[in-house]
Amino acid sequence: MNGNAKTIRFMDTTIRDGQQSLIATRMKLEEMLPILETMDNAGFHSVECWGGATFDSAMRFLKEDPWERLRTFRRHFKKTKLQMLFRGQNVLGYKCYPDDVVEGFIRKAVENGIDILRIFDALNDIRNIESSVRAVKKSNGHAQLCICYTLSEVHTIEYFVNLAKSMADMGADSIAVKDMAGLLTPAATYTLVGEIKKAVNLPLAIHSHYTSGMASMAYLKAVEAGADIIDTAASPFALGTSQPATEVMAEALREFGYDTGLKMENLIAMADYFRPLREKALKSGLMDTKVLAVDVEMLKYQVPGGMLSNMVSQLKELKAEDKYAEVLAEIPRVRADLGYPPLVTPSSQLVGTQATMNVISGERYKVVTKETKEFARGMYGQTPAPISEEITEKIIGGEKPITVPPATLLEPMLGKAASEIKEYTEQEEDVLSYALFPQVALDFFKHRYTLKYGIDTTLTDKENPVYPA
Ligand code: CO
Repeated sequence: MNGNAKTIRFMDTTIRDGQQSLIATRMKLEEMLPILETMDNAGFHSVECWGGATFDSAMRFLKEDPWERLRTFRRHFKKTKLQMLFRGQNVLGYKCYPDDVVEGFIRKAVENGIDILRIFDALNDIRNIESSVRAVKKSNGHAQLCICYTLSEVHTIEYFVNLAKSMADMGADSIAVKDMAGLLTPAATYTLVGEIKKAVNLPLAIHSHYTSGMASMAYLKAVEAGADIIDTAASPFALGTSQPATEVMAEALREFGYDTGLKMENLIAMADYFRPLREKALKSGLMDTKVLAVDVEMLKYQVPGGMLSNMVSQLKELKAEDKYAEVLAEIPRVRADLGYPPLVTPSSQLVGTQATMNVISGERYKVVTKETKEFARGMYGQTPAPISEEITEKIIGGEKPITVPPATLLEPMLGKAASEIKEYTEQEEDVLSYALFPQVALDFFKHRYTLKYGIDTTLTDKENPVYPA
């Protein structure tokens, strides 16, 4: 590499977003273990390995302790920074949590091995990431503050640049642009990245999904415009609703004279390792060919990868696969009604579920989910555009929405959570798991307890129903 080569760094997403987007986060820790050392020596800027849906999924479907999983990663990644995706005041859950949960969670995440926290708010309401930033600073972690990219009449370049500036003012160590739905076109990316880099003197990461087939072109333009980090996945878990493929981007950029710091033999070893896992998932149907194809309709519906693969499996379960197109068409209408939230967890689930209700019940807002009501009440934060009075009336009747940051209205909850699960607590971290996912965590703790002591806790509970339902 010549001395003038510009550096571009990669974050590998294979074991987080890659598998979350393509196989609904069902990759087991034991399926990752044999390749971790190769990944550690590949030369990545960081490996995204935790957060997002992986935490919930580990306990719910895989019966794994997510904290133990993180400690295992930390032991295996001796050189590479570990990164997680964090939903600000929503932590890793689907609603707003009080500050004690946010702070406790971040402290434990860093203690157990996370270096970089990519923090976003689903509505880009930066009041909702303030406590997270404070907590990351206190733990000496790296706060990568993240803009959710989306398209709407209010989401202009100026809007995003102002957001980046506010994030820099808040103390961001770096900035990320997160394009959940693969909406970034090459030209839009070039302008956006250029303008953000001009306005803010911080490293900039670009995260997109291949859903609409544009992400690798968008990355190339992002790099030309001065982006510092791109997010990619090993090819067997890339493309489709996942990220561009690491090997392809690395080779293309190398030829342009960029120093990627990556070792091609490690990237190829990763591809060889993950390919049989992909084959297995295709065979079992876990990886649906629907999420692998280029979907130009995504530019219209703005449905992020994870949301799409979840929706496919939900509709399958409801035996309502024939409603797929109708639900997809209802999503942008619900989104406009709700003030154009970017479609990212938890607003993506909320909009997706409400759209499904609107279609399946046969009348719009005849059935309104609890989450949609909370959203209209302002309990998720400020929406990018106001929600009309007509829609507010339909959803919450005559109630008046709040205007303060939602977390300021919440009581601390860790004390109560700790007392509710004291029989099952094996580590401080369990209280956080339970605070975020009470039922899922409790089921997991019982499973763990049964494995360890051979006592069937479902019987114990019937005799002594002291545990929350
Ligand atoms: Co993503």
